[in-house]
Amino acid sequence: MPHAPANLTTALTPPVNAGELPQHILTPLAAVDDYLRDIVGKLDFPVNLRDAIAYALYGGGKRLRPLMAWWCAAAVSGRTDHDAGIKSLPAGAAVELVHAFSLVHDDLPAMDDDDLRRGRPTLHIATSEAMAILAGDAMLNLAYAHLAQVIDHPATLRSLVRELAQGTSGMIAGQVYDTLAGFEPGLSDEQKLRTIHINKTGALLRAACRMGAICQLSPSENLPALSAISHYADDIGLMFQIVDDIIDVTQPPEHAGKKTGKDIDAGKLTYPGVLGMDLSRKRVTELLDHALTSIAPLGPAAEPLAQIARYMAVRTK
Ligand code: IPE
Ligand code: IPE
Ligand code: MG
Ligand code: MG
Ligand code: MG
Repeated sequence: MPHAPANLTTALTPPVNAGELPQHILTPLAAVDDYLRDIVGKLDFPVNLRDAIAYALYGGGKRLRPLMAWWCAAAVSGRTDHDAGIKSLPAGAAVELVHAFSLVHDDLPAMDDDDLRRGRPTLHIATSEAMAILAGDAMLNLAYAHLAQVIDHPATLRSLVRELAQGTSGMIAGQVYDTLAGFEPGLSDEQKLRTIHINKTGALLRAACRMGAICQLSPSENLPALSAISHYADDIGLMFQIVDDIIDVTQPPEHAGKKTGKDIDAGKLTYPGVLGMDLSRKRVTELLDHALTSIAPLGPAAEPLAQIARYMAVRTK
């Protein structure tokens, strides 16, 4: 990791808190972290920009998107060995870069105006708003630059870029719905919520899953497996943000690592706010069951994906 100035290093916390997952599912995290460090270490950028990117990428993130890319690659390959998802690393890194960018911008004063992320000051607090905006821009750019650099097969590269662009566009549209509205007329609050969540969070999770699978498959190979992965991803994408809304009203910031109890004050449409807690939890269970049914045909190689989905349904941070 590049040298970081004092204001960026003092706040570093140990990485990854998805610790409730079984250890063998977390095994790929070491490879994911090495891979991301390698990307950032090679950046020919001003040192302060590189440090800001490192701050946003390391230190407390659960790395769920690279993990999902990894285990989706494993699931479509039918393999269960510890290297089964290794081909997914470029995809997982690209999606994690976009995810980290989305969080840095999400926390800015013009958006959610948060000062705590992963138990540390948000990047604009640790540096400046200008640096947080530019580091976010750089991570978005880097995601695509990295894919272009390491994926040799033209059709695979095209598919990966298309998936990442769709996921990122969905995330951006979802952030607009979440903060600035812009819905089609006549939608109920529940329809608006679904629109927000499947876009702002679901779209990038779908990209992570599909891109992991695409790294493993040759183009047009095994379409039923890719379709199973897509159905799974859509359900857990929505589920993940419903659980995030639940965390906002049930967890203290010391546990969640980010400000909580803020969505209602900020006037956000959330599942607990619109449907109540019981119905929100029921939706989580329904989406989980449906996701598990979608990947059942993939057999034992999809068991890690089932475990990740179960963890995502009950996570508290
Ligand atoms: C938080 O995502 C933002 C949402 C999309 C709900 P994560 O909960 O995956 O964030 P990190 O990367 O683990 O901090
Ligand atoms: C963020 O949703 C979704 C993104 C696209 C970053 P939230 O605003 O609810 O995420 P947190 O609660 O700040 O992590
Ligand atoms: Mg937000
Ligand atoms: Mg936020
Ligand atoms: Mg939230």
